Amino acid sequence: MAKIGIIGGSGFYKLEGLPVIQEEAVTNEYGTARISIAEYKGDEIVFMARHGASHSIPPHLVNYRANLKAMKDLGVDYIMTTAAVGSLHMLLAPGEFVLLSQFIDFTRQRVGTFFNEVDPNFKHVDVTEPFSGFLREKILTAAKERDIHIHPYGTYVCLEGPRFETAAEISMMRLLGGDVVGMTVVPEVVLARELDIDYATVAVVTNYGAGMAPGKVSHEEVYEVFGQAKVRLQKLIMAALDVIVDG
Ligand code: HPA
Repeated sequence: MAKIGIIGGSGFYKLEGLPVIQEEAVTNEYGTARISIAEYKGDEIVFMARHGASHSIPPHLVNYRANLKAMKDLGVDYIMTTAAVGSLHMLLAPGEFVLLSQFIDFTRQRVGTFFNEVDPNFKHVDVTEPFSGFLREKILTAAKERDIHIHPYGTYVCLEGPRFETAAEISMMRLLGGDVVGMTVVPEVVLARELDIDYATVAVVTNYGAGMAPGKVSHEEVYEVFGQAKVRLQKLIMAALDVIVDG
């Protein structure tokens, strides 16, 4: 049986309802990752809260390499992740889910590769389709079975953060073909690809991008809307686990 990992984004800090067998800090050459191992139908699921259990690690300081390497060393083959995002379209409203299919990278100061030194064995990885077709299909099946609405495609624009965007940046991201904006999926998805791990993300729209709705974009709004979507999101992730585990 393939091993599944889950990385919870903002507002998603544990797998509700799954018995945790073990919690540990896994140290590798890139740093330390805090993981918990839960049991599901006799299989081990590796869970990680991307921003730490109390949301203290801002997006640009997440140790993506330590986290992904820890997943690899634990034998994880598939990673499902969640991410809070801002919407770039008035028709894509807060509370809706988007299954990411593409990304555009605007990050600036992150180490986005494991090939970060002179190495005769380094390689350029293909990211034509950055998200796992296998996992995307399983998540869509799970959503259909549980009657949970999810947009099947979406282009994620990754910004450095931790600030939100200006109204002009949001207009530009939309013109460039983006659907949602966030601060974490890159380099996570790229590092997973470098390690040959299948990776998929369910993005939760928490707000309209800056300048699209009256008022400011607020941290509190992001958490409030995410909180309202959380039960539905957990249900979708559990259903996707079912679909993968049961084949
Ligand atoms: N911008 C960037 N990241 C985000 C947003 C946003 O509006 N909402 C949630 N994460």
